[in-house]
Amino acid sequence: MSIKPITDYQQAAKTLRQSDLRQGLYDEGAVLMDGVLVNLHGEKHRARRGLENKVFRRGFFQHYEKEVFPDTLRVTIDGFVSDGGGDLVEFGFRSLMNLTCDFAGIDRPEGTQDETDRLLLLMRTFALGTTLAHSKDDREKVRQQVRDALSAFDKEFLQPSMARRFLLISKCEAEEVVEDELPRDVLTVLLRNEDQIELDDQELVREMAFFVVAGAQTSIHSLVHVMHEIFSWSTDHAGERQKLRSDPMLLQRCVHESARLHPSSPVARRRAECPLTLATDEAVETGELVTIDLLGANRDEKIFGPDAARFNPYRQTDKGSSPYGLSFGLGMHACIGRTLAAGVTPKPDSNPLDHQYGTITLIASALLEHGARPDPAKPPKMDEKTERPNWGYYPVILDTPQS
Ligand code: HEM
Repeated sequence: MSIKPITDYQQAAKTLRQSDLRQGLYDEGAVLMDGVLVNLHGEKHRARRGLENKVFRRGFFQHYEKEVFPDTLRVTIDGFVSDGGGDLVEFGFRSLMNLTCDFAGIDRPEGTQDETDRLLLLMRTFALGTTLAHSKDDREKVRQQVRDALSAFDKEFLQPSMARRFLLISKCEAEEVVEDELPRDVLTVLLRNEDQIELDDQELVREMAFFVVAGAQTSIHSLVHVMHEIFSWSTDHAGERQKLRSDPMLLQRCVHESARLHPSSPVARRRAECPLTLATDEAVETGELVTIDLLGANRDEKIFGPDAARFNPYRQTDKGSSPYGLSFGLGMHACIGRTLAAGVTPKPDSNPLDHQYGTITLIASALLEHGARPDPAKPPKMDEKTERPNWGYYPVILDTPQS
């Protein structure tokens, strides 16, 4: 008998925290996902996560959001504004790819349009690998595309990024450069490997490709979903649009509320490591798959109220749940980049001036500042390549600067 998907919020949360359940969503996508962090279990997962967590030393997210990201964002949005808008999905890929490459440790030495386009093409191919379980295409064909993309990524981007870091690390060991001059990224901590974890060359290629895509793809889809929710909501709620431009805390609430309604993957899946009993009281045998319906659990009316399926940034959530529901996971695989993407959940005494909003709120804010609105001549379309409910094309208009 197969196990029913878990839709109750509290039971879903407990299941995500159950340590005898291992990752089970990426078996189809092993070509990219074999041996990457989100697919590891037990001691191997603990060791890799512990090492990679060294990137997020105290103050990392604050530093990134306040010092590094504004410039990265300005460069990308300026082009979008001067074109008077365009496809939000494409814009999201460009702005967030640079962010995750910085964070992962993939250099873009030429800084040219061709280089960005090349990396974007590779990243879009990796994205097909992570979502193979939901692909509508011939899966073997997609696997071959991912293999080719991995070897091109290794040769064109990873090897040069590694060479630059190896040189800096050896200079640091020889005390020719100080620790602070080393890049603050995942690749550097993996190459230094202070904890001496096991990681072979091919695993490293997949780990870096996974990181770039894990950070970018999820954030892009969340950005497009929240803009769509804001456009619809502010059409029905006169006056709110103006408020969103002046109240970044409210805008961040919109990001969290939209993330709750649109988790980047509608389900999480786990496989039992041993016979066990679920929070639903169902017994599971070794090897059996358990599906956690994130989309359903995030709309559980017992937790989020009778209008749980509706977008309402003023929703009050109680202490046992978070405003974004289970969309950033829980337990051992809880998202490592959550604070980067979604910021810190505001408290009544949070100071708007030094609050961490997260990159999605910052991008949404910049788009609203430029008057972003849907293009009435070009209706948006869902992504037809996947069963995941994501936007594939979302044209918007922006106000061009007065000449
Ligand atoms: C809106 C943006 C994002 C969403 C919705 C999101 C969602 C998630 C979810 C649901 C998981 C858990 C998967 C599972 O339990 O099977 C996860 C894990 C992860 N996320 Fe995110 N994520 C986002 C942004 C980011 C960013 C910006 C980064 C990095 C730059 C990132 C890196 C990771 C990594 C490395 C893991 C695996 C952690 C582990 O297995 O220990 N994510 N994310």
